Amino acid sequence: MNWRGSLVAWRVAGLVAAVFGHFLIFAQFSWIEILRDRGMSDGVLRLMLALMAVGGIAGGVLAALRVLGRRTLELRLVLAGTGVLTIGAGLATGPVAAGLVSLGCGLGIGAATVATASGVAGWLGRKRACLVVGTGSGLGYAVCNVPAVFTAAPAMQVLFGAGFVWLAAVLVPGRTMENPADRLPLPAGRSLGIVAAVLAMTALVWLDSAAFFIIQHTAQLKAGTWGGGMLWRNAGLHLAGAVLAGWWLDRGGLRGLLGLAFLLLGAAAWLVQQDDGRVAGACLYPVAVSLYSTALVCWPALLAGGGLRRSGWRAAVLFAIAGWIGSANGIGMVTQLDRIPMAFVMAAGVAVALAVAAGWRGRMRVAVLAGVALLAIGVEAARRPAADAAAVDRGRAVYVAEGCIHCHSRYVRPASPDLDAWGPPAEPGEVIGERPVLIGNRRQGPDLLRVGARRSASWLKLKLEDPARFAAGTPMPSFAHLLKDGRADDLIAYLQAGAADSLAWRLQRMNGWRPQAEEGHSSKNGDGLFRRHCAICHGPEGRGDGVLAGRLLREPANLVAGPFTWTGKGAELELRTARVVKFGIPGGEMPGHEVLGDDAVLALARYVIGLRSR
Ligand code: HEC
Ligand code: HEC
Repeated sequence: MNWRGSLVAWRVAGLVAAVFGHFLIFAQFSWIEILRDRGMSDGVLRLMLALMAVGGIAGGVLAALRVLGRRTLELRLVLAGTGVLTIGAGLATGPVAAGLVSLGCGLGIGAATVATASGVAGWLGRKRACLVVGTGSGLGYAVCNVPAVFTAAPAMQVLFGAGFVWLAAVLVPGRTMENPADRLPLPAGRSLGIVAAVLAMTALVWLDSAAFFIIQHTAQLKAGTWGGGMLWRNAGLHLAGAVLAGWWLDRGGLRGLLGLAFLLLGAAAWLVQQDDGRVAGACLYPVAVSLYSTALVCWPALLAGGGLRRSGWRAAVLFAIAGWIGSANGIGMVTQLDRIPMAFVMAAGVAVALAVAAGWRGRMRVAVLAGVALLAIGVEAARRPAADAAAVDRGRAVYVAEGCIHCHSRYVRPASPDLDAWGPPAEPGEVIGERPVLIGNRRQGPDLLRVGARRSASWLKLKLEDPARFAAGTPMPSFAHLLKDGRADDLIAYLQAGAADSLAWRLQRMNGWRPQAEEGHSSKNGDGLFRRHCAICHGPEGRGDGVLAGRLLREPANLVAGPFTWTGKGAELELRTARVVKFGIPGGEMPGHEVLGDDAVLALARYVIGLRSR
């Protein structure tokens, strides 16, 4: 490349970086925070994101139709306009104005991404074009991970976002965006058809956005991955991964790259959930994301194999399905989860493998699919290691040795009020089959047969450490000594064994429950009850900042500002809230308050509803 060529290359890299940067920092990040700060409910928030996606898809289609952004000046205007709308986000206070901003920014970014992705072949030719795109996407990710940008206030991030697209408008190269003379045929086997590309990249985006959302909203995971001091490292890894991807793609490595991106992403998803693998997972994740993101931008014009004329359509379809719909679905699927289900990772793996193997000859394809199936079986088997059973056995021994049996039973009496409080009764043989039998003969404390379905592992740990923190004046002594050598973990494994099996039962019971006391009336003092039972997690004012926040797998809900997943607006709000207070969130971190009378439960429900700012 001569110096003019390399100047164009840098301009294209900058353009890609700036468009990426705007999307990451504004559309995926600060805009959501701003809407939240303005007190929009979850429903409105979802509507705004949907509007942006609709705008994005429409923008992409308009670019593919050559109506928008496919000529140099047009693209500049689209980018400049997007910047103006982005600034408008800071001023749009009402839902209508915010909706217009969402739609407009989506439209601008949708058109700009499609125009850019299909323009690269014309600007750069095919030689080393992927390297340029990779450098650009890496820079985009890196800049957004710079601490000053990543942690800036949302209003400041809006300014960054607008700055990015204005910079992009300046950088659009003057040269023609469509130069069919640069079209070199790709060697067979190195390109990927549209069905395969969409399938593979949608699966990757889906997995990525689900994992990212879970990590960002799970205190423990976030601290070990996106916490302070790790942002520079993430920025560097993003850049390195993307440059590597560009280099590799120029050498025809598309299929290998998609496969590797999946392996790294799957490994990262698994590792971040292991206490001793979190750092390794946090390092693999940015690399994986950069790999496939570079492929996403390179594919429509450089790696699809078809003619350039249709590259706009290919980009529009790919970005609509993999980009806009894939990320929304990934997030929508997991807002209720605090783990990344391994079955989900495996499904994504099968999709990627199918896509990558498409077009390969029969035997090769069978070999790849068989490999994935074996891997799936292996991971599934490794997921419940034999060590689990051993831990449960050791835990039972701890239970016996520590004398829990003197105060706790493990026997839910059938057809009694026990069922609401403690869970389903034992199956025949379930309790008698235990050696030694631990039914117990005294009941000072609650029955522990199903305690694992009512209390999370982190809650149980906190309870063993200092029982009084959840029950002032409790006779239960502290078992903090068990936390020092892993015996607490074994004990918790024992208490939680089989818990998952009774979750559905409990959920059903919860949904059928109605308080005996009259709704709307209670003699109890909600304020006092809240301080006593809830403030330790939700904070004295219910803002989710109690002393235990950060020690649970999920942040306690902010009961003033929301968002409200379980107790959102709608019919029977008081009843639904009362159910959450009494039963907790089965399988989640919110404990039930089974021992409180219905009167107290109702008083608490009414009190927390009264805390809401809207
Ligand atoms: C001296 C009696 C005593 C001993 C010994 C004792 N507990 Fe408790 N435990 C209680 C009482 C009373 C409560 C109810 C009040 C409270 O929550 O602290 C309780 C509550 C609990 C809870 C909360 C259950 C729920 O549904 O909220 C758990 C879990 C628990 N104990 C586990 C254990 C384990 C495990 C051991 C043995 C390592 C143990 N306890 C030993 C008396 C005891
Ligand atoms: C051990 C900590 C802890 C305690 C104690 C606790 N909560 Fe929670 N609570 C949580 C967590 C964590 C969540 C979020 C759960 C989730 O998203 O999975 C939550 C969620 C909730 C929600 C659901 C909000 C929604 O999403 O709609 C309500 C309501 C709630 N808590 C009320 C209470 C009340 C009332 C009390 C006291 C009686 C209480 N909590 C005690 C941790 C706690």
